[in-house]
Amino acid sequence: MDTKVVRIDESNKSEAPIREAGEIIRAGGLVAFPTETVYGLGGDALNPISSGKIYEAKGRPSDNPLIVHIADLEALEAIVKCVPETAKKLAAAFWPGPLTMILEKSDLVPKETTGGLDTVAVRMPSDAVALSFIRAAGGYVAAPSANRSGRPSPTRASYVAQDLDGRIEMILDGGDATLGLESTIVDLTVEPPAILRPGFITGEMLRQKLGRVDEDETLFSADSGQAPKAPGMKYRHYAPKGELTIVRGPAEEVTDFIGKELAEGRRNGKKTGVIATDETIDKYEADVPRSVGKRTDAAAAAKGLYRVLREFDDEGVELIYSESFDGEGISQAVMNRLLKAAGHRVINV
Ligand code: TXA
Ligand code: MG
Repeated sequence: MDTKVVRIDESNKSEAPIREAGEIIRAGGLVAFPTETVYGLGGDALNPISSGKIYEAKGRPSDNPLIVHIADLEALEAIVKCVPETAKKLAAAFWPGPLTMILEKSDLVPKETTGGLDTVAVRMPSDAVALSFIRAAGGYVAAPSANRSGRPSPTRASYVAQDLDGRIEMILDGGDATLGLESTIVDLTVEPPAILRPGFITGEMLRQKLGRVDEDETLFSADSGQAPKAPGMKYRHYAPKGELTIVRGPAEEVTDFIGKELAEGRRNGKKTGVIATDETIDKYEADVPRSVGKRTDAAAAAKGLYRVLREFDDEGVELIYSESFDGEGISQAVMNRLLKAAGHRVINV
């Protein structure tokens, strides 16, 4: 199959490509599209055959449920059994935006889309291209991140093409994703509500609207010994091909330790990479040194992380060390993804 890539931007006022993308979805095909978090691999959420195709294109196990993307609140009512007060509050505060809610599904949503579950994940993205595309597609677009399973989520169209060229009908290229990390997932079918995946909408922001909100222990700790609650979180995700280790501790000791490890790796003929910050990047001698921005700018780290992980793969880096990004709010989302990418390999110095 030839994958058509169409660039959409402010100057391109023509709605023809978005209409065409919508028709592909209505006909049961697949289109990758930009959202403010990461690119999605979209299919008709109400068509079980489309969901099957998404799993196949992505190389993803079909017990891992998909997020249904909608463009207005009426669409939410149609796909869930009822809209609880908690969902109304969160929708008013954070939609459209980087928040996914888990709710009881209605009969309209096939089990193929929800990985066999009676619940459905729903998100209304804020990206303008995403919203027009969802409307053109009929209002319900099932979409996981548009990467092959096990690769970092794509933050630009060329990364989607790297993974999915020839496997899907079309890619809508809306430029770089503004946030760069996937949405926060909150389960509203349990009491109190629980965060299944941290993101830009932080626990603190959710608590301001709902009162108590639990955080799954497995999100941040390497060794809680518990099974994660979101089915997708049990799979090894976002893994670069090289061996990635996170180093945690006082700043100077971290740079010293990483510096020595990189030198040792290079002596052994390994191609090395480092994930650092603007403050420290010049202290390292790595084959592929990468800064994700100022240490205090967690949003920049969120935006840059997946790009850097892909660059290590493209450069064939074998040994990677990363500084750790401990802190509140968005830092937690960055650290959650970094821990997964590292297979929870952390050294405390
Ligand atoms: O920002 C995002 O959420 C992006 C963009 C494209 O919207 N999408 C995304 O989808 O990250 P995906 O498929 O890569 O991650 C969805 C996660 C998976 O871990 C999945 O297991 C979980 O959501 N999930 C989906 N439905 C669920 C359900 N009913 N109950 C619990 N977890 C669910
Ligand atoms: Mg994903």
